[in-house]
Amino acid sequence: MINAKHSICNVISNKEIMPGVFLTWIEAPDIAASAKPGQFIMMQCGDDTLLRRPISIHRVDAGNLAVLYAKLGRGTQWLSKQKEQALIDILGPLGNGYSIRHDAENLLLIAGGMGIAPLMFLAESATSKGKNITLLLGAQKAEMVFPANLLPVDIKSIVTTDDGSMGIKGRTTDILLDYLDEADQIFACGPTPMYRTIYKNNLLKNKPCQISLEVRMACGMGACYGCTIKARQGLKQVCHDGPVFDFDDVIWDELVDI
Ligand SMILES: Cc1cc2nc3c(=O)[nH]c(=O)nc-3n(C[C@H](O)[C@H](O)[C@H](O)COP(=O)(O)OP(=O)(O)OC[C@H]3O[C@@H](n4cnc5c(N)ncnc54)[C@H](O)[C@@H]3O)c2cc1C
Ligand code: FES
Repeated sequence: MINAKHSICNVISNKEIMPGVFLTWIEAPDIAASAKPGQFIMMQCGDDTLLRRPISIHRVDAGNLAVLYAKLGRGTQWLSKQKEQALIDILGPLGNGYSIRHDAENLLLIAGGMGIAPLMFLAESATSKGKNITLLLGAQKAEMVFPANLLPVDIKSIVTTDDGSMGIKGRTTDILLDYLDEADQIFACGPTPMYRTIYKNNLLKNKPCQISLEVRMACGMGACYGCTIKARQGLKQVCHDGPVFDFDDVIWDELVDI
């Protein structure tokens, strides 16, 4: 059952916060009111009415929602050019998001690159419930590290960069084991190779972990089967059953990188 709403929304602001990465706030009270961390919206980008782009809900605040995206192809280039008061056609909230256990006090969040997009919403929601958050925030280089002043103030964050230009040199997966013991629950979002490293090196040591998967999507609503993956319980549609899955439910050897 899909509870997504269709909405034509005003852009409130649209800023490039890192090279090629934009933060767009949209006035979308209906969608913001029911959105949960880990869910996404399908955005119509310009005259491409056939294929909407799936983008995670990055934050919600007083009837507004924010998306954080990398300017890549035609759709996100169009999006990056939209000014204040421009109208954007969106559908959401879609998918199944992260779920925090009531008894989990210490949460470990692992963000690889743009993976910070959905984890911000989760971090804000968790801190408002009094949970302790440690965030491992990875980027290729200093200029691509998500700005510290945009993170919730009451979380502990540890930065890694591939080239060592900020924080610890290396990847979030290199330091994951150092933070595992204190974590009651783990949440991750990043590229498939990041998950593969975790899987191949057994870095979770059986700790519960939820991850958000990024696959190609056409409809985003369970209608086209274009986003199907193999999971332990059979075939799953990432847009409808996910994008958040338990780490152990995914059959990593059969997942195709995009
Ligand atoms: C559930 C989900 C949440 C996402 N959240 C974010 C986010 O918060 N921020 C962000 O920067 N990116 C996010 N992505 C990836 C984002 O959807 C693609 O980068 C974007 O669609 C590329 O569109 P484009 O017009 O720039 O590229 P184009 O190459 O012009 O797109 C062509 C087609 O390919 C599809 N496509 C291309 N790359 C991807 C991709 N990586 N994943 C899925 N479809 C793709 C597009 O939907 C489009 O239909 C998310 C993907 C999914 C599945
Ligand atoms: S994208 Fe169409 S079923 Fe998931």
